[in-house]
Amino acid sequence: MTTTEQPDTQAEALRSRIAAELERTRARTALLTEAVDDDDLTRQHSPLMSPLVWDLAHVGNQEELWLVRDVGGREPVRHDIDDLYDAFKQPRKDRPSLPLLPPVEARAYVSTVRDKVFDLLDGIRFTDRPLVAEGFAFGMIVQHEQQHDETMLATHQLRAGPAVLDAPPPPEPRVRVADEVLVPAGPFTMGTSTDPWALDNERPAHTVELPAYVIDAAPVTNGRYREFIAAGGYDDPRWWSGPGWRHRTEAGLTAPMHWRRDGDGWAYRRFGRWSPVRDDEPVVHVCWYEAEAFAAWAGRRLPTEAEWEKAARWDPGTGRSRRYPWGDEDPTGEHANLGQRHLWPAPVGAYPAGASPLGVHQLIGDVWEWTSSTFRGHPGFTAFPYREYSEVFFGDDYRVLRGGSFGTDRAACRGTFRNWDYPIRRQIFSGFRCARDARPEEAHG
Ligand SMILES: [Fe+2]
Repeated sequence: MTTTEQPDTQAEALRSRIAAELERTRARTALLTEAVDDDDLTRQHSPLMSPLVWDLAHVGNQEELWLVRDVGGREPVRHDIDDLYDAFKQPRKDRPSLPLLPPVEARAYVSTVRDKVFDLLDGIRFTDRPLVAEGFAFGMIVQHEQQHDETMLATHQLRAGPAVLDAPPPPEPRVRVADEVLVPAGPFTMGTSTDPWALDNERPAHTVELPAYVIDAAPVTNGRYREFIAAGGYDDPRWWSGPGWRHRTEAGLTAPMHWRRDGDGWAYRRFGRWSPVRDDEPVVHVCWYEAEAFAAWAGRRLPTEAEWEKAARWDPGTGRSRRYPWGDEDPTGEHANLGQRHLWPAPVGAYPAGASPLGVHQLIGDVWEWTSSTFRGHPGFTAFPYREYSEVFFGDDYRVLRGGSFGTDRAACRGTFRNWDYPIRRQIFSGFRCARDARPEEAHG
C-alpha cells in the first residue's frame, strides 16, 4: 500500500525513544561485563547462575531472533548458535561446559546484531501488527536485556574476590513512615490493557474486589528481621510451613544470604565489601519460606498479589489505577531506588515522593517483594508473543514477586509488572512486607 502520509512525527519520536532505550540498556550491559576479566566472564560463580558471557550472547541472540529476523525479516547473523543460547534447551548448571562464544566473539556478535537493529529501526513502520504496534518488540527486547542485567548483577553479588562495582550510597530517610496502612474494601483495576510495553502476563486489565486489609507502609527492615532471628525464629518450627521447615533444615538457613555474625551484630556482604547490617534498610536476600515464617512470627501474613497491586496503584480520589504509586509518570531518582543507581536498598523513608496516595512507601524499587500468590494468568490471559515468556511457568511451583529492586531498571518495572521465582530462591534481590485482614472496627471505622 502506498501512502500519502506526511512525515510522521509520532513514529519519529517513538524511533528515537527506542534508540535511546537500546543504548542506555547496552551501556549497563557493557558496565556489568567489562568490570571483570575474561576468565571471570567465562567462569560460573554459582550453579544458580550462567557465566556472564552466556548472558551477554543470549541477550544478542534474543535480539537477533525477534528484531533482526522476525520484525526485520533479515537473514540470520548466526543461526548456528541459536541452541546454545536457548534458555529452555540449556539448564543453567550446564552452561559453563557448552562451547560458548569467547568474550571477544560474544562482544562482536552482540554489536553486529545491534547495528542491524539500528539499521532496520530507521525504516520501520509501526503498523498495527501486534509485534510492532507502538514498538512492542523493541520494548520487549529492552526489558529482556534489562532483566538479564539484573541477573548479571545478582551474579556479581555471588562472585568471590575483590569488589569491582561502585555506586554512591542511597539517600537517607527524609520522613518518618507509619507502621501500617488500612486499604478500604472495594473493587480496583488490576493489570493493564493499555500500557504499550506491558508484557503478556500483565494483561488484560480486570476488576478485582477485595475486603478491607492492612498492609505494612514499608518493607520489613533488617532491624525487625534481626528481632525474628534473636527470638529464635529460625529454630522454631511453629512459624514455618511444612515445606518451609524442611527447606530451612536441609539448607541450614540461619539468617539472610550474605549475612555473617559480626560481634554482637551482623554484617552483610554486598558486591565484595562487608558492612554492618543497618537496621532501617529493607531486608534483602531472603527466600519466600523465610518471609512466610517471619510473617507468622509477627502475627501477620504475606499480602496476596492483588493486595500488593491495589496498595501500589489504587487512587482513592479517582477510583482508577495508576501506573505507579505516585502517578502515571515514569520513575525518576526522586521516586524510587531503581536501575543500579545504588547497590543496596535505601533506608525506610528515603523516597517520600514515591509513596502511594494512602501513604504506602517504597513499593517500587529497593527490594522485590514476595507475595503469597502463585503465578497464574490474569482472567482473559493470552500468551504473546511466545508461550515461553510466562505461560509455561504458570502453576503452583512459583511465587510472585512485585515492585522491582535497586537492580531493576525502570523500563522493566511498573505497578503491573510481575516477577516469579521458586520459594527457596534468595540469590535474587528479594525482601517482603507483611499484611493482615482488617479487624471489623477498622474496616467500618
Ligand atoms: Fe532470557
